[in-house]
Amino acid sequence: MTDVAAKDSLTVTDNRTGQQYDIAINDNTIAAKDLGQIRLTDDDPGLATYDPGFVNTASCRSAVTFIDGDKGILEYRGYPIEQLAEKSNFLEVAYLLVHGELPTKEQYDSWVHEITYHTFVHENVKTFMQGFRYDAHPMGMLMASVGALSTFYPDARNISDADNRHMQIVRMIAKMPTLGAWSFRHAQGKPYVYPDNDLGYTANFLSMLFKMSESKFEADPRLVKALDVLFILHADHEQNCSTNAVRSVGSSQVDPYSAVAAGVGALYGPLHGGANEAVLRMLKRIGSKENIPAFIEGVKNGNERLMGFGHRVYKNFDPRATIIKKACDDVFEVTGVNPLLEIAKELEKIALEDEYFVKRKLYPNVDFYSGLIYEAFQFPPEMFTVLFAIGRTPGWLAQWAELVQDKDQKIARPKQIYTGDRELTFTAASERWA
Ligand code: CMC
Repeated sequence: MTDVAAKDSLTVTDNRTGQQYDIAINDNTIAAKDLGQIRLTDDDPGLATYDPGFVNTASCRSAVTFIDGDKGILEYRGYPIEQLAEKSNFLEVAYLLVHGELPTKEQYDSWVHEITYHTFVHENVKTFMQGFRYDAHPMGMLMASVGALSTFYPDARNISDADNRHMQIVRMIAKMPTLGAWSFRHAQGKPYVYPDNDLGYTANFLSMLFKMSESKFEADPRLVKALDVLFILHADHEQNCSTNAVRSVGSSQVDPYSAVAAGVGALYGPLHGGANEAVLRMLKRIGSKENIPAFIEGVKNGNERLMGFGHRVYKNFDPRATIIKKACDDVFEVTGVNPLLEIAKELEKIALEDEYFVKRKLYPNVDFYSGLIYEAFQFPPEMFTVLFAIGRTPGWLAQWAELVQDKDQKIARPKQIYTGDRELTFTAASERWA
């Protein structure tokens, strides 16, 4: 028996030995390493937990983002997402995530200036991107080009220096729209458009995406605002798959470009950032409201998933989905209504009343409506995840900066339960094939 106080502890009896252990509870968790003392013999490695997908395992302490999945609460550094979406802008939110507090006027101006100043990339990055096949997926291009930045900024390896970290954070937030927009232009065979630093962050991104021969690209301010809100909604989401990838790779103390490239890779997957692309394909396949019941039956029979529904954390509603639904109206006022909206709304209505979805607490997530907005902007589905990645970049970097300064952190290295053969005797190929 260990000598922790009876209160705030967990008493466990190992029924294999009858031995009892007191394990301290801190912040509603037990330290997994404390289970290691529970062992059968001295050379037994000790008890561990089995948790594929980390469904009930905290991997870090973090002060960046708070989520209460049951109540549908999302806060960045303590500020509710609804307030930030309504009253802030993406660069201010990025500052908040990275620095932990809202900027003063001077801090904000200097932050915006720094980010704007760093929007350009080295010309060789452009040549690198032009080397991709004509039909390269923009997320593949983004992942590769973010990773390639590590070769342009070898000083980024000096992750223990705070000024150096700041420099890379600024560079990455600044350059992500440039890389994302160029990935888009590449697939269209159009010339890459250089940043226009007279424009704000999101307006400049739209200019790099859509500018043709006009001397200045002027996006509708309502569209700029809507996209800025979408970036805010995606800016962080605590320990999601891609952030976990950034932290896991970052824990090797590699430079942040390589760590963020890993995050982009994780986001590429259809169960994570790729879901909005999948939602749109699903809505197009359903085609009309009459086909919804048959589709829902297919989902309930396990043939496929209702994309844009369900969340590992939100079991009531996803607050981001509520804000996005409202943003739909603002965007469609400018672009005209996307006919798929009717199908999406009907699908949501039917699913929310259906026992299968109610029982499993499956609600629309952030991706259910975002694809419709993106399509209204005339983005092809392959671009949706790129937009998510641009929004998520400050979150990844805030989490990365927190990780590298966290004395508790170690290189990520989970345990396994080995299920393979042991101690076989090897026979050389020449004998086996004789
Ligand atoms: N459609 C139909 N059934 C579902 C769905 C869905 N979208 N999501 C979960 N279920 C069922 C699942 O089959 C399981 O049922 P049962 O208990 O009978 O086996 C139950 O609900 C629990 O599902 P799970 O897979 O154990 O839940 P999870 O927490 O591991 O998965 C998820 C979360 C988001 C991966 C999952 O809900 C899903 O695949 N959703 C569709 C993809 C999607 O919209 N992803 C975007 C997530 S939000 C943006 C982001 O974070 O990237």
